[in-house]
Amino acid sequence: MPETRFTDVRRFASIDSTNRYLLDEARAGAPEGVVAVADHQTAGRGRLGRTWEAPAGANLLLSVLLRPDLAPGQRHLATTAVALAAVDAVETVEAIGGAAGAAGLRVGIKWPNDLVAPDGRKLAGVLAEADLASAAPGTPAPVVVGIGINVNWPAADEDLPPALRGAAASLRQLAGTEVDREALLTALLAALGPRVAALATGEGRSGLADDLRAGCTTLGTTVRVDLPDGSFSGTALAVTDDGHLVVDADGTLRTVVAGDVVHVRPGA
Ligand code: BTN
Repeated sequence: MPETRFTDVRRFASIDSTNRYLLDEARAGAPEGVVAVADHQTAGRGRLGRTWEAPAGANLLLSVLLRPDLAPGQRHLATTAVALAAVDAVETVEAIGGAAGAAGLRVGIKWPNDLVAPDGRKLAGVLAEADLASAAPGTPAPVVVGIGINVNWPAADEDLPPALRGAAASLRQLAGTEVDREALLTALLAALGPRVAALATGEGRSGLADDLRAGCTTLGTTVRVDLPDGSFSGTALAVTDDGHLVVDADGTLRTVVAGDVVHVRPGA
């Protein structure tokens, strides 16, 4: 089994949310590296206040507690580290399993943090939640990064709620066969080690940003950016060294730190 420092893995048959659990653990002083994995979540959290739903026992639902020593503007890279570890893990497991049609598949990242299939359907989402108030003075604040990977659900597009049909997919659909959740978890924990270690050095962070750029399916596309105070559209031009998205909006370059980026199809 590959080496990993993410060895404190706490498993739950059912829990409200693995992110909620680790935020509470962080407030109680839990160290970096604790992982929570659930077969089912009754109140899974998604980005922008949405929920994250998956049937019991089908997908990989996990959170990891990090305490990265990052400037506020660099915190997005903690999310990037987990997303890239998941990309690495999918590639490894598919290559090992030799699943038909998906061997060695390197999935893309839709900025800021969705893993996407080659046709753009969402395979996984990442939600980072920081508790800035709970850190002891002079110590890095805890950041809980949760990821939900569609491993074996949906088995077919019709399994999805109507609103998600054509927009989400599973590794099983890409592979054409069931995918081993435990093997994917092992590969993800192994990949997290180097990805999280990279957060600690300038060279490591710049490597994370480079890998995000290389896998980012958003670059070159037309996007609409929805911010609390309004929307704007433009072409996604670049990813900064801190992992932020640079959008060309009618000749004005705008850097997007947060916000919901919607990929706009040509003509839409
Ligand atoms: C998104 O909206 O794309 C992010 C979804 C994140 C879901 C994961 S599942 C494990 C962890 N626990 C949660 O409550 N949410 C995250």
